[in-house]
Amino acid sequence: MLLWVTDMARDTSSRIRRGQAITLKVDDNEVTGFEGETIATVLLAAGITTFNHTPDGRPRGPYCNMGTCFECQVKMAPNAGQDHRWVRACMAPARDGMDIQTGVSRVRLPGREMKTGRDR
Ligand code: FES
Repeated sequence: MLLWVTDMARDTSSRIRRGQAITLKVDDNEVTGFEGETIATVLLAAGITTFNHTPDGRPRGPYCNMGTCFECQVKMAPNAGQDHRWVRACMAPARDGMDIQTGVSRVRLPGREMKTGRDR
């Protein structure tokens, strides 16, 4: 039994079927993903772990990966040049041509200076 499980773990290439390659713009960089993946999957696979910031500048990223915690929010425009809106990256399917902004702080507290990834 153990041998069978070990062999299954090794032989993943024949069982993984990925969608067609897609390209997203993430903070002005091109990032490749695959159809069927979420925005969070594409970002994490690209090594991006900071998705937004708290009002005092602490980095936030995916925690639950099932739409409950809202820690994975990013700004997303369906295509370049369109308005961005906040989405939960773990719940939003990645699409070719999307424009994603990470590192932005969603909450603005009165009287507090914003520190975001873009400001540093
Ligand atoms: S990681 Fe928790 S809502 Fe996306």
